[in-house]
Amino acid sequence: MSESSDLNKPSSDKKFDKEGLKNVLFVAISVCLVCSVVVASSAVLLKPMRILNQELDRKQNILRAAGLLPERAKVDELGRGIDELFSEFEVRAVDLNTGEFIDGVDVTSYDPIKASKRIEDSLDLTSDQDIAVIGRRENVSLVYLKIRDGVLDKVVIPVRGYGLWGTLLGYLALEGDMETIAGLGFYFHKETPGLGGEVDNPKWKRLWRDVKAFDEAGLPAVRLVKTRSASGSEAARHEVDALSGATLTSRGVQNLVRFWTGELGFGSVLKNLKTAS
Ligand SMILES: Cc1cc2nc3c(=O)[nH]c(=O)nc-3n(C[C@H](O)[C@H](O)[C@H](O)COP(=O)(O)O)c2cc1C
Repeated sequence: MSESSDLNKPSSDKKFDKEGLKNVLFVAISVCLVCSVVVASSAVLLKPMRILNQELDRKQNILRAAGLLPERAKVDELGRGIDELFSEFEVRAVDLNTGEFIDGVDVTSYDPIKASKRIEDSLDLTSDQDIAVIGRRENVSLVYLKIRDGVLDKVVIPVRGYGLWGTLLGYLALEGDMETIAGLGFYFHKETPGLGGEVDNPKWKRLWRDVKAFDEAGLPAVRLVKTRSASGSEAARHEVDALSGATLTSRGVQNLVRFWTGELGFGSVLKNLKTAS
């Protein structure tokens, strides 16, 4: 009796065939579509927040290199936050070939590293020139100037160069005299923790403060050494302890600092700033 009534039911009441090819495909495609809409809309909606965070990160790295923001802190000793501290900086685009400021560059979005990858916007370095092992150097970069009471107090420049395992990216800060180092910090590197990775060690970073970047002839002179020269000597003014067990990273750091303070880096920019101040 019940069998005959089942047979008489309309086809729409038949059990859903979960394993039928059409249904499997329909469910799979629907799930894919929903997921891609969710991922795409999150990417679009979160983009402004991502840009804001990248910007905050950049400011923080610059402030830390300049010694204006303590390690791991988000505020300075006076409770001033990243945005407030960074508001004291002026960001300028500079022509690395002439050392002159350039107007008309959107400094908030300009990326010197991306520019170094465009043939028309960069210089192909010869192996003799390329002591930092960067391949190409952008023609236009950015400088971060801290001006206090109309006087140039600090200048921060972006630096990069090869260590042992990859390129280190960071910022070098100089005092207003354009030759005394205020600090150096890397925000990206692939060096080994405990060896080359000690570039992030706050104790080692403090050793950079007050080191003189140039010799008496005005040439880049920073040296990372295993044994320091006699204190008070001319050589000792340019020396920083090499990282122990990490000679190759140390050499990379020495070379990148020399490159970016040299004539192919920011050398002419620093000279112009010194003359102007
Ligand atoms: C697993 C491993 C990781 C290493 N990482 C680094 C590094 O990050 N930076 C570096 O300069 N040397 C590193 N080294 C050591 C180098 O290969 C090389 O021995 C060292 O730079 C020589 O430095 P030293 O003369 O101070 O001993 C590493 C070695 C090993 C085995």
